Amino acid sequence: MDKESMKLTNEAGAPVAENENSLTAGPRGPVMMQDVWLLEKLAHFDREVIPERRMHAKGWGAYGDLTITNDITKYSKAAVFKPGTKTECFIRFSTVAGERGAADAERDIRGVAVKFYTTEGNWDLVGNNTPTFFLRDVHNFPDLNRAVKRDPQTGMRSAQNNWDFWTLLPETFHQTTVVMSDRGIPASFRNMHFYGEHTFSLYNDKNERVWCKFHFRTEQGIKNLTDEEAAEVVARDRESNGRDLYEHIASGDFPKWKMYIQVMTEEQAKNHYENPFDITKIWPHKEYPLIEVGELELNRNPENYYAEVEQAAFTPAHVVPGIGFSPDKFLQGRLFVYGDAQRYRLGINYNQIPVNQAKHARVHDYHRDGAMRVDGNYGSEPAYSPNSMGDWSSQPGVMEPPLDLSGAMYAYDPKDDPTDDCFRAGGNLWRIMTEDKKELLIKNTANNIKPCTKNIKYRHAVHCFKADPEYGERISGAMEVDFDKVKELAKLTNNELNAATMDMKME
Ligand code: HEM
Repeated sequence: MDKESMKLTNEAGAPVAENENSLTAGPRGPVMMQDVWLLEKLAHFDREVIPERRMHAKGWGAYGDLTITNDITKYSKAAVFKPGTKTECFIRFSTVAGERGAADAERDIRGVAVKFYTTEGNWDLVGNNTPTFFLRDVHNFPDLNRAVKRDPQTGMRSAQNNWDFWTLLPETFHQTTVVMSDRGIPASFRNMHFYGEHTFSLYNDKNERVWCKFHFRTEQGIKNLTDEEAAEVVARDRESNGRDLYEHIASGDFPKWKMYIQVMTEEQAKNHYENPFDITKIWPHKEYPLIEVGELELNRNPENYYAEVEQAAFTPAHVVPGIGFSPDKFLQGRLFVYGDAQRYRLGINYNQIPVNQAKHARVHDYHRDGAMRVDGNYGSEPAYSPNSMGDWSSQPGVMEPPLDLSGAMYAYDPKDDPTDDCFRAGGNLWRIMTEDKKELLIKNTANNIKPCTKNIKYRHAVHCFKADPEYGERISGAMEVDFDKVKELAKLTNNELNAATMDMKME
């Protein structure tokens, strides 16, 4: 650094004479309004906090590349998927329920958001380390957040609120089983898979569509912590996962994931035995095998946490030609909420923050003005469209194929769909678990649900029983509820079960 660049200035670039002693009227007198550097410093300091993300507040980021090793152009025309293409990306890993200061090694799902800076614009994949999600209707999402975060009276996290909400919605069952399993506390971000979760679509250069799911499988191997190990980690390091990621990248030990897709044709989707657009359901690998796409490597740490990690903004709405959405109604809700949250959290021009900018595509969106517009605001280019100057016309060539839809408008409950089974995926997961994994799942669940009232334990035991009688019997024993009563309650419909287990004093 040259001597000149080491000199202190104010925000207008003028030299600052004194940065430690306030300007006072006499050696023991009051501070002067005239100490404008002090006023500027304090006023800036007062505004240095922005709202934290409503969930996924605690997170860590890194840059890397996606390299395409297989040819999937028969499914997608996206430039990012051309064989051999290497695309720079930025990733942010997070926990979900904890606030910005929370510890990393908590039992929770991990968010994994990736921004691919493609030549056709930025593509964001905003996923998690689990193949499915708790919920399938956007209406439930704000409530999930309130149930897993702080109780309005005590200001504390509450197992009772958490499990009450989960167990009243049986579609949460598979995800609850995953979170309570050994995978509920990954040892590091490097040691976990991650998924796009939703059904997305791909379309090729003939505009033929398939449905698809995105998978990223760790090459570092899966590694998890037990509750006891995690408690020990948190006691000495609340930033354990962020530190692990930063240090491995800094030392040149770059973490890698293999990228895969699962593909379902439109015809297969019509005949699938359950709703393929329901995010709480998996597509079994046996039926829809993983197709290799490429490899993602993380190889560069951010220079500045706030600028790059805290101000990063991802949204599932950012897709590029060749990648599209699906009728998944949960995904549809997310298409609105991310940009909306970011306009509030970061301001209307958040896509001009360097980490969010399209790096390899020109942005010509006609958006003008707004707080913190700092890029020249398109200068004297026309501000309206259509115009006679030939500027920035829409590109019909990238229109995605039309999609046939049918049915009357209505607030449909997926539980009324006779093909809906909330317990199949959780039961299948239980059945493929080895004995030590089953034991851990039972132990973790019993510990986690311990502070809850009996009615909630019964509800959960019934769900486990419906998934697999052995799962139900073992969890009943561990939670100390009467298994005969569980079996009786299991004969009820979901609504009857919820009604029968409303009584908080139930024994
Ligand atoms: C309709 C349901 C959902 C709603 C309403 C919702 C809403 C939000 C909001 C408001 C944020 C904060 C955004 C910001 O301030 O930048 C967020 C972050 C996030 N969400 Fe969701 N979310 C939903 C479902 C999901 C699902 C299903 C996944 C995974 C597949 C997911 C993954 C994430 C991730 C990874 C982040 C953190 C992104 C980052 O690192 O900046 N969310 N979500």
